[in-house]
Amino acid sequence: MDSLKTDFTRQFDVKYPIICAPMFLVSSVKMVVGASEAGGVGTFPALNFRPIERYCQTIKEIKTLTAKPFGINIIVQKTNKYQYKQIEHALDERAPLIITSLGNPKEVIRLAHQMGTKVYCDVVGFEHAKKVADLGADGLIAVGFGAGGHAGDISPFALIPNLVRMIKLPVIAAGSIVDGAGMAAAFALGASAVYIGTRFIASLEAEVSENYKDAILRAASEDIVNTDKVDGFPGNFIRTKELEAIGLKKGLIEEILAKSKRIKRYIALSRAARSLLGGVDSKVSYQTVYSAGHGVGLIDKVLSIQQIMEKIVKEYKEIKAQLP
Ligand SMILES: Cc1cc2nc3c(=O)[nH]c(=O)nc-3n(C[C@H](O)[C@H](O)[C@H](O)COP(=O)(O)O)c2cc1C
Repeated sequence: MDSLKTDFTRQFDVKYPIICAPMFLVSSVKMVVGASEAGGVGTFPALNFRPIERYCQTIKEIKTLTAKPFGINIIVQKTNKYQYKQIEHALDERAPLIITSLGNPKEVIRLAHQMGTKVYCDVVGFEHAKKVADLGADGLIAVGFGAGGHAGDISPFALIPNLVRMIKLPVIAAGSIVDGAGMAAAFALGASAVYIGTRFIASLEAEVSENYKDAILRAASEDIVNTDKVDGFPGNFIRTKELEAIGLKKGLIEEILAKSKRIKRYIALSRAARSLLGGVDSKVSYQTVYSAGHGVGLIDKVLSIQQIMEKIVKEYKEIKAQLP
């Protein structure tokens, strides 16, 4: 399959403008290497590999398995007490891309640019986008409504073209993209690449349970529920018995407590910590409830990451040729 040229592929010298998005407890070495070797860019959240020694080992392992670019997602907020170590090791290993979530990326951008590492920042709105652009970000990940994980509130139809108009940086489209039609739409809106999570969970390389993959194949878009019950932040999850068991509605006491900003934040952080650090048996954890985006309704087969990427690019080219 021929390559596709965009600002993103030129920046990283890759064949396809497709990023296999970082996914907590899902992204594995196999997925990262599979995506980068297939011509896109594989990424993973630093928190997936703990303790820090395992994280360092993982970066080294990825580098022995592929010479292609890969990316590391780092939470640059006080709650991530490992962030400085994670940044330091990513830069020591010359990781080509760091993707920041939450918080202020000022320091990571300053340090990364000294080492030639590019920094892309997750954004869900315009204020934060302007701020990270002023701080020197190399690109923006526009996380729109309908994305897996902690999605934004703004429709990609408004978010992406507004960002493209306001900020002269590559904008990457994230949320519900699973096929060539999604890629064509993203490019029409002005995006330079697509950032895909859910589609790659239903891949041969994903080392998640068969139940998770089955749930993605079976779910319709209407089965995606947005709830803050899992980790304290509103996220998209497939409606399952396990999800319903944690109760999707806030209790009366919680409703009252949540009106106080400080208490609300405390509840969110304690839930997030429980979820992030919870073991396999934890009732509320990403291992027993399944995060996914609205695109689930369009996914009906488990394929290899290479097959998924080539299918998307092939469909995109066909759709582009047929557009009115
Ligand atoms: C299971 C799961 C876990 C995720 N974990 C993270 C994460 O740790 N960090 C992050 O920045 N985004 C995370 N995301 C969001 C993805 O990086 C990406 O923005 C999203 O999957 C794109 O939407 P899509 O799933 O509809 O393709 C996660 C998404 C899923 C589905």
